[in-house]
Amino acid sequence: MSIGTTIAKKRKALGFTQKELADRLKVSFQAISKWEKGISNPDVELLPALAEILGTTVDALVGYRSPILADYEERYQNSDYYWGIEPNRLCYDIMRLRPPVKPYRVLDIGCGEGKDAVFLARNGYQVSAMDIAEKGLEKGRILAEKCNTYVDFFKADIADYRLTKKYDIIFSSGVFHFLRPELRDDIFENLKKNTSEGGLHAMNVFVSKPYVKRVPGKKGDRFEWKSGELFMRYHDWHMCRIDEELFDCNSGGIPHQHCMDIMVAEKR
Ligand SMILES: C[S@@+](CC[C@H](N)C(=O)[O-])C[C@H]1O[C@@H](n2cnc3c(N)ncnc32)[C@H](O)[C@@H]1O
Repeated sequence: MSIGTTIAKKRKALGFTQKELADRLKVSFQAISKWEKGISNPDVELLPALAEILGTTVDALVGYRSPILADYEERYQNSDYYWGIEPNRLCYDIMRLRPPVKPYRVLDIGCGEGKDAVFLARNGYQVSAMDIAEKGLEKGRILAEKCNTYVDFFKADIADYRLTKKYDIIFSSGVFHFLRPELRDDIFENLKKNTSEGGLHAMNVFVSKPYVKRVPGKKGDRFEWKSGELFMRYHDWHMCRIDEELFDCNSGGIPHQHCMDIMVAEKR
């Protein structure tokens, strides 16, 4: 889709006239009209403001999809659920440690097609779930509807998403190796800060081990953690579960192994 078509689509979805959008951007409405007709394109300096007004990202405006996003969008195209619909075992840890006696606010980071978010919502938690892959979110919404429950699914990138309100439980499975290591301090400080007292973090991360070969064909956009690194980040919380597991995987059709650190920690 061209940038002009995207602008027109988003503008109309938000109910703005060309004049209203032009006023907010401090350009002429003829400029907007030209962009939407494909006669010219907006200046690069205008893109961040334009993306913000239209509730999107610069990447989405210019039609850029990272290789990771393209990979997951493709995996989620099929009507089958790529990761199945059985919940992760961490969800049972959450239910055991914080039975849903009240609607605890849960955030699922990198929710994929929403199996864990939907499972928790069905069981009485108040769940928000984010992912970068729109197709996964769409399938999550369908799954929630089929299960007669509701999850607030939204699109966000872990690299630039920061919490501005508190959650009681933060869950994430198989996602943080997509975060560049230099961003970990900032992101985890934000997640820990925005967790209520007595709240839980239930997470796993892929870790590197000398005896586990790198997954064949994977490019340098995945950043495995050091063994134990996740646990160290929670030295000031109470550890409810710590595990390290080696398991077989066949994703991509090539048998290989992964090692994962798994943790449930409680804020005290
Ligand atoms: C291995 S899948 C796990 C999905 C889900 N948590 C599950 O266990 O079924 C990794 C997920 O991380 C998402 N992801 C990758 N990079 C991301 C980013 N920068 N921001 C948000 N989500 C991202 C992918 O779209 C994908 O859905």
